[in-house]
Amino acid sequence: MDTSEEKTCFSVRVFGLSEDSLQGGIQVTQDEQHRELLLQVSQEERGVSLVLVEDNRTCVLKMTITSETDSCRVGAQSFLLSRGNTSSVLCFRTCSEFQAFQRLLSQWSEPRVEHCVFDQRTEGSSALQYFQFYGCLSQQQNMLQDYLRTGTYQKAILLNEADFKDKIVLDVGCGTGILSFFAVQAGAKRVYAVEASAVAKHAEVLVKSNDLSDKIVVLAGKVEEVTLPEQVDVIISEPIGYMLLNERMLESYLHAKKWLRHKGMMFPTSSDIHLAPFTDEQLYMEHYVRSSFWQQTCFHGVNLSGLHSSAVDEFFKQPIVDTFDWQILMARSTKYTINFLEAKEEDLHRLEIPFVFKLSQTGLIHGLAFWFDVAFVGSRMTIWLSTAPNQPLTHWYQVRCLLQTPLFAKMGQTLSGKVQLIANKRQSYDIHINAVIDQSGFKSGNTLDLKNPFFR
Ligand SMILES: C[S@@+](CC[C@H](N)C(=O)[O-])C[C@H]1O[C@@H](n2cnc3c(N)ncnc32)[C@H](O)[C@@H]1O
Repeated sequence: MDTSEEKTCFSVRVFGLSEDSLQGGIQVTQDEQHRELLLQVSQEERGVSLVLVEDNRTCVLKMTITSETDSCRVGAQSFLLSRGNTSSVLCFRTCSEFQAFQRLLSQWSEPRVEHCVFDQRTEGSSALQYFQFYGCLSQQQNMLQDYLRTGTYQKAILLNEADFKDKIVLDVGCGTGILSFFAVQAGAKRVYAVEASAVAKHAEVLVKSNDLSDKIVVLAGKVEEVTLPEQVDVIISEPIGYMLLNERMLESYLHAKKWLRHKGMMFPTSSDIHLAPFTDEQLYMEHYVRSSFWQQTCFHGVNLSGLHSSAVDEFFKQPIVDTFDWQILMARSTKYTINFLEAKEEDLHRLEIPFVFKLSQTGLIHGLAFWFDVAFVGSRMTIWLSTAPNQPLTHWYQVRCLLQTPLFAKMGQTLSGKVQLIANKRQSYDIHINAVIDQSGFKSGNTLDLKNPFFR
């Protein structure tokens, strides 16, 4: 065996085997018996190449082992290879040399699949369902028809025309390409419109039918995988899910910064997540009533009550997506800012939002309400898109997380604690809430699954 770091040459003895059809047995071919040969092993595109060399010069056998090759171990240190009707046994000098050879085979014969960042952080089933969802024109229509969303994006881009005029733009997750069209309306020289779902082909149709093939280049694929021919001046995207973070698309938006030139712009530029305690007896009771189904002791003759507490736990894990009168809020909101120009993808893997709320009314705190605003900071003006409860409603609504046990507090007391948002491989977050009324010591909390909200 050679002594280089990657042991790729081995001394072997080769026995040729043949079937004896007359006598019905296997025979060792006489002329090949006991020959000591050099086996050279190397990696190839299709598999592992084996070359047997005699006297360091003459090639005796050359073949590539792929998943289709008939081969197996024989005894402790030999290897059998079959091609057509002939087979050869390679006997290695020692067991450890044979094991080194086997290691190379398994390392090199496994397909070399390179997983992009998106694939590493996402379960395959989640990604499949996600891109199927966005592949539907009906879902794209749902977003396009959110007038506040689409109109604010257009306003932010057109009112900051100078940031787009003659510029190279990247649209991350272009969907039907609407933001790319806005960038062209503002004078962009070229837009790379990247889309991973099947809607990419529909975007291409719109680009062609709007005569913009010279300006908008649709690239089908994930932004983590595609290659752009040049760096860009501006990145635009609508990577926003419920509670801002659901879908984990913000990470793809941040990933795209590898294509952004120095001092390039991001539209949107930053976002504030807001949270505030709320009181809502009716919502809390509704949640309990939903689970009371499982209290039945004679449902078609079956006692379901053994599952009641599991049902309560499950329902309370669901964040509630709806809207509410902002007057149910019991304190001024706290905000947590993410600056997209500065943040890195990893910053969104785990977020911790500490809070201290000074309560403006006496009553029961049933949970925390969340909403977000995003800012488009242009060179001419900053435009805000707000999903606050006192603003016109968007398709993101607001999100409320109930506490399992409501907390009684008096006006002037403080509720303190933290919210932890931990990213998961289902393109969403686990939400952990811990809260205490500082003056009474009453504590409560909850853990919720943002992937599975309750649409009220
Ligand atoms: C919220 S939609 C926005 C669509 C469009 N930009 C608009 O404003 O109407 C997000 C789009 O991004 C796509 N997307 C999500 N993650 C992506 C990724 N990593 N690479 C490319 N496209 C992605 C989705 O398939 C979806 O069409």
